[in-house]
Amino acid sequence: MAERLLIRGGTVVDPARGVEAARDVLIEDGKIRDLAAGLSKKPGLQGVETIDASGLWVIPGLVDMHVHLREPGREGDETIATGTSAAARGGVTTVLAMANTEPVCDTPAQLRLLRAKADADAKVRVLFAGAVTVGQKGERLTEFARLKEAGAAALSDDGRPLMSAGLMRRALELARDQNLVVIDHCEDLTLSAGACANEGAPALRKGLKGAPWAAETVQVLRDIALAELTGARVHLAHLSAAASVEAVRAAKRRGAPVTAEACPHHFALSDDMIPGYDADWKMNPPLRSREDRAALVEGLADGTIDAIATDHAPHGCAAKAAGFDPAPFGVIGLETALAVSLTELYHKKALTRRELVARLCAAPAAILGLGDRGTLAPGVPADLTLVDPNAEWTPAAPYASKSRNTPFSGRRLKGRAARTLVGGRTVHAL
Ligand code: DOR
Ligand code: ZN
Repeated sequence: MAERLLIRGGTVVDPARGVEAARDVLIEDGKIRDLAAGLSKKPGLQGVETIDASGLWVIPGLVDMHVHLREPGREGDETIATGTSAAARGGVTTVLAMANTEPVCDTPAQLRLLRAKADADAKVRVLFAGAVTVGQKGERLTEFARLKEAGAAALSDDGRPLMSAGLMRRALELARDQNLVVIDHCEDLTLSAGACANEGAPALRKGLKGAPWAAETVQVLRDIALAELTGARVHLAHLSAAASVEAVRAAKRRGAPVTAEACPHHFALSDDMIPGYDADWKMNPPLRSREDRAALVEGLADGTIDAIATDHAPHGCAAKAAGFDPAPFGVIGLETALAVSLTELYHKKALTRRELVARLCAAPAAILGLGDRGTLAPGVPADLTLVDPNAEWTPAAPYASKSRNTPFSGRRLKGRAARTLVGGRTVHAL
């Protein structure tokens, strides 16, 4: 007997298929079986286990293509188990874990180990990026074909840039031949050296060393050129500067094979908002000016920025309490990304509902080549999120994440994941 579940009375929002309408959703054996209005009244579906979604949006589970799960090496800050619990709470059903673990994920053996660990521990689906260079040292390339064979879903040295343009060119040629996207952390270290904040008045006033926006944009421009030179797909991570957005806009007009993401902290916050020396507001790239923030929102609205990703970066309390300069870069984001996006982009009318869901679900799935995710087409795995768009709440510790380094603690937000399903199984419910 097939296992069936009916989600009744919600509004399905599936931009990939152009659907935005009242629909019941029938799940059978973990997959989407059927979507139609009034399904619950059909004879034959009486008595099927039902979830009431009235007043809620029914959207594809979020795909967060930029998270740090800290396993192996820093299990005190996060594990696959706790990081994916945070994802489930935030409505995220697929995450891409970055390779800057200890040791770095740069070999097939390492990928296989992580796969096995995720299969045992993860609450949501986990994909892994393989490093571009051995040990992320920016010197020797890893073996892309073997990493792909071992399951790498993308290549990235995220956390660090590739400083050598020549090596980046070679990496892109080889990645193109494997049809792997390179996720690019753009930062010219000769411009950002020693900085812990954004270069500008707020940092100056506090006596903190800032990195200029150009530290990001010069590499964005370089790597757009290299994408065009090689024909390889480059995905620009965590854009923070207005000039970077403009560079991507112009590149896309020319048809360059580039995509981009922005993080909730960058489009919701700016450097003038940082309270004192609170290192829960410190990340890399740093919060920038109000103008930069506005440009990110505009880029998200017009599609220059394809995807929203968290750069979920857990760090322990002791490390973050060391002071703004010595503290490590990074903020957690899995549990608040959907809410911050709803609050800042949807409720403030910068993006329509459909555009927002596209940035959170369909676009990242497409960038990673996941044809059966980010959509609710019949036949795909039933990864979906029920969103209460108007629920007001205030994030506060304890979090599902092992860490609590987020600038959104204590901030009133509007909207959240009421329930998250992975393969038809509920992994989070309010
Ligand atoms: O803020 C950040 N934290 N930016 C990065 O690029 C790396 C990340 C981390 O791993 O903590
Ligand atoms: Zn990152």
